[in-house]
Amino acid sequence: MAQKLQAPRGTYDVLPDDAARRDQVEATARRILGAAGYRRIETPVFEATELFARGVGASTDIVQKEMYTFEDGGGRSVTLRPEGTAPVARAYLEHGMQKLPQPVKLWYLSSFFRYERAQAGRYRQFWQVGAEAIGSADPAVDAESILLLAELLESLGVRDVRLRLGSLGTPETRAAYRELLQRYLRTHEDRLSEEVRSRIDLNPLRAFDADHPGTQEVMQGAPLLIDHLSAEDLDHFGEVRALLDGADLAYEVDPTLVRGIDYYARTLFEFTSDALGAQSGVGGGGRYDGLIEQIGGAPTPGIGWAAGIERILLAAGEEKIAPPLVDLYVAYAVPEARATGFELTWEARRAGLAAQFELAGRSLKGQLKQAGRIGARYVAIVGEESATLKDMETGEQEELEPGRVIPVVLKKGKTLA
Ligand code: HAM
Repeated sequence: MAQKLQAPRGTYDVLPDDAARRDQVEATARRILGAAGYRRIETPVFEATELFARGVGASTDIVQKEMYTFEDGGGRSVTLRPEGTAPVARAYLEHGMQKLPQPVKLWYLSSFFRYERAQAGRYRQFWQVGAEAIGSADPAVDAESILLLAELLESLGVRDVRLRLGSLGTPETRAAYRELLQRYLRTHEDRLSEEVRSRIDLNPLRAFDADHPGTQEVMQGAPLLIDHLSAEDLDHFGEVRALLDGADLAYEVDPTLVRGIDYYARTLFEFTSDALGAQSGVGGGGRYDGLIEQIGGAPTPGIGWAAGIERILLAAGEEKIAPPLVDLYVAYAVPEARATGFELTWEARRAGLAAQFELAGRSLKGQLKQAGRIGARYVAIVGEESATLKDMETGEQEELEPGRVIPVVLKKGKTLA
């Protein structure tokens, strides 16, 4: 026998039993985001590699080691999208959305690809629900965006949620601070981990994330970006905070909050759940006022977030979802009645009923058993001339003409409802 094939490492199948819960996530996102004026967008699964190199940042882990990049048949370098913000920003520019009333609010629910070490809550193909508001620097957009993610997580039953909030300032503030931090790191170079030392030039901020004890000690005395923000950035951050306070959303200001993507500026946030293990980040995002310029547009502010569907489901725990309703199961008493039954099933569906037909050649007894298994409310047993309609809840039966089955079920359905 040929060797059995399996799904690639870090990927999984969404089986029918899992699908209902995911549909619920999507419906909840549509309701909450739709009510706030966000409209759905879907971008291609692959993009020009350069979009991520420029947008996400050449020095990030994502671009350096996690992208699925390949050459297509025409010799172009393309990449399976590792995230959604750069593609949405590209689409905003490509479709002239700067001409629309700003901010343009967009949401997506799509799968993304990162070549990461697979473990619980971390996959190589994963799903995110994300929301982006492009075209306004107003702190109210930041607060609204954060509150929407908080509401989504709460509505989906994500447990033990915590919000960390920070501000990165503008690119200029960040550049000046970066130099300051680099100088500080160099003066303590001998106590830093090899990895942090080798990345002082490339990404000194990541030193705050290090597990290495020596590095952690050094970082306790490190200068903090939040102490070097410009007055304007501090004001902006203060307004975001005031709006969140006004909405009674609890958060913790984390001056060392960093995220693994380069486009962030000003507001930065991350929601974690203590119900998750090591991969505790359920969702996060921030402002990316320099991104659109980075990919060839005029300076345009933007803010958004993305939350991992797998982590949402893990952190929300099991929630039983009722199986889909079956109003009518059409069985046939003799093989000659099969065609009549098949037609009746389609008529029932056209009349708006959830109807199923016997498809596996079972005996009449087997058909009734199957109707019970799938939870059918009524069964029509079609004969050559007549039909028997059975109420599966009460066990009552009545004989009628096949043409009467649908009107009777519809009528009973109405009286029940
Ligand atoms: P991110 O923090 O890289 O941000 O990803 C957002 C969320 O996606 C994470 O909090 C996590 O729940 C989920 N996630 C990320 N990687 C994986 C993985 N390998 N397996 C399972 N889940 C994962 C972004 O992607 C930004 N685009 C967010 C954003 C939108 N910022 C501004 N706008």
